[in-house]
Amino acid sequence: MFSQEFIEKIKTAERLTVLTGAGVSAESGIATFRDPDGLWAQFNPQEMASVDGFMSNPDLVWSWYQYRRETVFKAKPNAGHFAMAEIQDYFDPLTLITQNVDQLHQRAGSENVLELHGNIIENHCLDCGESHDDEIDIQNKEVPVCNFCGGKIRPSVVWFGEMLPEDVLYQAGAASEDCDLFLTIGTSGEVYPAAGLPMIAQDYGAYVVEINPNETVYSNRADEKIMLPFSQAMPMIAEIVKKYRTKV
Ligand code: OAD
Repeated sequence: MFSQEFIEKIKTAERLTVLTGAGVSAESGIATFRDPDGLWAQFNPQEMASVDGFMSNPDLVWSWYQYRRETVFKAKPNAGHFAMAEIQDYFDPLTLITQNVDQLHQRAGSENVLELHGNIIENHCLDCGESHDDEIDIQNKEVPVCNFCGGKIRPSVVWFGEMLPEDVLYQAGAASEDCDLFLTIGTSGEVYPAAGLPMIAQDYGAYVVEINPNETVYSNRADEKIMLPFSQAMPMIAEIVKKYRTKV
């Protein structure tokens, strides 16, 4: 299932960098974006995930995020998330970069997760930027208003057309340049700049492995392709790590 080269890398790599996408949460019951039953097959990203969309219909967009939060709060991390957290002390370092906004990696025990696209748990004012995390009453379907400036409160996810958090993107780029093994898991590779990270890692000499049951833009380019779901592949990797490595 895994090549001898991949197994050797799991045993010996000093620095491991991992990029995850919506596919790692699929087995926790959270919809992906671009699969046939994904969110973007049912909803228009320009309407639901852009500042213009939010300004055109704030209550609709807010209630959609409330619905998604409800799903996230009910979901539980899967075996892949737990296996990922289990191996974090065996690499120096393991850098976990995620495009996901659901914080399932953190709930499974992963620390210092680089959230490229923000998260759906927190909120801030569109106008003054003030944090408003207390407004998460998932029964409330109308967009709340900032008590400092009267602006509309929005979820702290990165929307289309917005910049990624600069420090997070910088750290993600640095960890991609400076690793021996890079895993890209559960992402279609359609959204930049995240999608460019596996290529950066490969250009800088890392062994790049894709874990995804389906073909993606990386499939021909990665050094190795594991066509397994996250919840199966990750515990297999963790077994090898725990058998052959010691904690650092
Ligand atoms: P996509 O929906 O584009 O891709 C999900 C990928 O997960 C697909 O390639 C699936 O084949 C794969 N997949 C499905 N089930 C899997 C499983 N059990 N194990 C492993 N892989 C599985 O999601 P992302 O690539 O994460 O951005 O999308 C990137 C960004 O586009 C998201 O962060 C979001 C979206 O617009 C924002 O909201 C800013």
